[in-house]
Amino acid sequence: MSKEDLVPITSTPEWKALSKHYKKIQDVTLRDLFAADPNRGEDLTVEGGDLYLDYSKNRLTAETMTKLIALARRAGVEELRDSMFAGEKINVTENRAVLHVALRAPRGEKIFVDGVDVVPEVHAVLDRMGDFSNRVRSGEWVGHTGKRIRNVINIGIGGSDLGPRMANEALRDFTDRSMTFRFVSNVDGNDFWEATQDLDPEETLFIIVSKTFTTLETMTNAQSAREWSLAKLGDKSSVAKHFVAVSTNEAAVAEFGINPDNMFGFWDWVGGRYSFDSAVGLSLMVAIGPAAFSSLLEGFHAIDEHFRTAPIESNLPMLLGLIGIWYNNFFGAQTVAVLPYSDYLADFPTYLQQLDMESDGKSVDRQGRPIDCQTGPIVWGQPGTNGQHAYYQLIHQGTKLIPCDFIGFSRSRHKVGDHQNLLLANYLAQTQALAFGRSAEEVAAEGVPPEQVPHRTFAGNHPTNSILVPELSPYTLGQLVALYEHKVFTQGAIWNINSFDQWGVELGKKLAMEIVPELDSAAEPELAHDSSTNTLLRRYRRQRDNN
Ligand code: F6P
Repeated sequence: MSKEDLVPITSTPEWKALSKHYKKIQDVTLRDLFAADPNRGEDLTVEGGDLYLDYSKNRLTAETMTKLIALARRAGVEELRDSMFAGEKINVTENRAVLHVALRAPRGEKIFVDGVDVVPEVHAVLDRMGDFSNRVRSGEWVGHTGKRIRNVINIGIGGSDLGPRMANEALRDFTDRSMTFRFVSNVDGNDFWEATQDLDPEETLFIIVSKTFTTLETMTNAQSAREWSLAKLGDKSSVAKHFVAVSTNEAAVAEFGINPDNMFGFWDWVGGRYSFDSAVGLSLMVAIGPAAFSSLLEGFHAIDEHFRTAPIESNLPMLLGLIGIWYNNFFGAQTVAVLPYSDYLADFPTYLQQLDMESDGKSVDRQGRPIDCQTGPIVWGQPGTNGQHAYYQLIHQGTKLIPCDFIGFSRSRHKVGDHQNLLLANYLAQTQALAFGRSAEEVAAEGVPPEQVPHRTFAGNHPTNSILVPELSPYTLGQLVALYEHKVFTQGAIWNINSFDQWGVELGKKLAMEIVPELDSAAEPELAHDSSTNTLLRRYRRQRDNN
């Protein structure tokens, strides 16, 4: 590491130039910016693959972008990107390569980790997944009693759940509708109960997905699944027909009782939240078929190539990341709302929460030094137009600055009356209203009584990105996910944090395991926690046993 690298990003001239520039921009309005430049809405746009980003409704100028791009160069975003694609161990705290991009590399491409080309291994697993999926979908793979598999239940949590769950919903229209696909993640037994209560074990296949195969929630649900299945099927040999595993831990899979022949592997260079295009997406492949899954991977790859080769000036994920930095670090915005105008993308914001918040929710840098600026934002959202009738009020007239990403699709999967135009009219109207608002004079001119004018005034100047995509398909979904993966990467590189570990989840897991015996013990346990935890724990035991 050169001395240069050790300078915190906030001490660089590029950061200071942005701080100074912010003072000039902070009071400039979007109305002024659009009035000053009639071409703004055409100029401040960028395309990558099928994705079109209009970032003109942001509180920035061409000068801001030049300065943000200089910051990215100073932070070495391109160098870190190149290191990632070269298979270097950029996950420094776990000494691992970060190669989700290899999961969608076309056959024949070469990507090396420790001198080994991993692309053939990736395709070998994809081929096995394809074969398995075809057998389940065609009915060739039958259950223990010879019945066709009608239900597939994915058991996993975090990265082993959110991706396949989100994509299964996003691509529902591409799924085999003669089958049922469900996802169980929570250790709350009601999740498992609800997913299985109306299903026949003879027709049900469980896909147990866990990178480590030690995760409490997943192992507990997998055990319950085994009991539920065996209660009807009786014979332990039935496990071979009703359970398959996706993991990097073959020994633990075998110990659970799943034949390693029924295991689909992946690698330590795939982070959980970057994994649904690996074997972690097996349930999705069964749902949509291998061809559509390939199309999804091609979509990912299209944006990978764009991210790898486009200069920062026209690099969509990098620009999206830099705009986020502008609000997060200079305007002091705490949060980002992601608002897909597609009901199929209902789970997309939840998926992004893990992707972004587990990656960039860090407060020390790659060298372990405290970071002296804000890092990852709070990510949230819901599909439009539902959110418009819930929390958009706060975005329009509240006191918080909430930059938003609006995602829209030009074509709908289904033609239902006028719905598509109404949906897109809302997508367009909201960013317009947020940007330009309605001044007191304009409100008064509409004949609104003076005492009501302040209530009906919209300050505007609320920043938005508009992402417009031709249609929702496996191919474009892959592109959208890769866009956000690389956006998160860009921001992590600027803050000099390791976006690929997640030590912050460990403490809670450890403490829970210490508490379990205290809840299980028959006798009142001796407690040595803080007084709050002790009191809650005793109250829980009393209430639980009191019926
Ligand atoms: O919550 C922590 C975490 O390690 C996530 O990063 C991961 O996606 C999830 O748990 C599940 O882990 P596994 O796939 O090993 O069960």
